[in-house]
Amino acid sequence: MDTDTWTTVDAWFTDRLRPRDDTLVDIVAAGAALPQIQVSDLQGGFLSVLARALRARRILEIGTLFGFSTVVLGRALPADGHLVTLEASAEHARIARDNIDRAGLGDRVEVRLGQALESLATLAEEGAGPFDLVFVDADKQNNPSYWDWALRLTRPGGVVIVDNVVREGRVTDEESRDPDVVGTRELTDAVSTAMAEGRVDATVLQTVGSKGWDGFLVATLT
Ligand code: SAH
Ligand code: DHB
Ligand code: MG
Repeated sequence: MDTDTWTTVDAWFTDRLRPRDDTLVDIVAAGAALPQIQVSDLQGGFLSVLARALRARRILEIGTLFGFSTVVLGRALPADGHLVTLEASAEHARIARDNIDRAGLGDRVEVRLGQALESLATLAEEGAGPFDLVFVDADKQNNPSYWDWALRLTRPGGVVIVDNVVREGRVTDEESRDPDVVGTRELTDAVSTAMAEGRVDATVLQTVGSKGWDGFLVATLT
């Protein structure tokens, strides 16, 4: 088994269950100059299913890129729903805003430009939330802090998802001093503590597919 096989199977299910409509094709085209590190179509499907199962009306995303996951999640919102997405790059935010408008979600989705840690503090000051769903997908070294904020800003029964916790199994390399790996390890310790305190129930889903071998951490607040 290798990435080619995973990609073939990914494409087989994507064709049948989640083929891109013209808007999503345009959105990816508009983001072509940016890193192609958005969630896969099937992973986006998982986010969409979860948002709908939760009847999510308030969603927080950390890490927008060109707005692919943002639009997938935004489409899962009811008409009176709201999604806030945090992005540090002005170029990414600009392209994402265009893509959100392209998808007809301008009234529901807000892109906040700035370091996510600063935007999160501002959101808390504003009394934003509580959110039904938080999708954490920015710089992995700050995941322990994003986790703390997510615990504060999510309602009981709400769900926090953290992308890219497996990264080809790198997380298990105890020697690694890579800040992303260290961030994921510290995140996992923090989640473990929160579970021991009875604050959350959590697990990790490993995934393979067009994005290689990776995984989501999924937690719900008790
Ligand atoms: N969620 C997107 C992919 C996000 S890629 C999708 O699946 O479609 C990660 C994004 O996080 C990048 O756009 C990067 O610029 C942004 N980012 C990285 N560090 C950040 C920080 N400290 N604050 C806010 N955004 C950050
Ligand atoms: C990569 C993938 C991601 O989903 C992400 O958020 C950051 C980086 C990657 O494949 O490098
Ligand atoms: Mg990611």
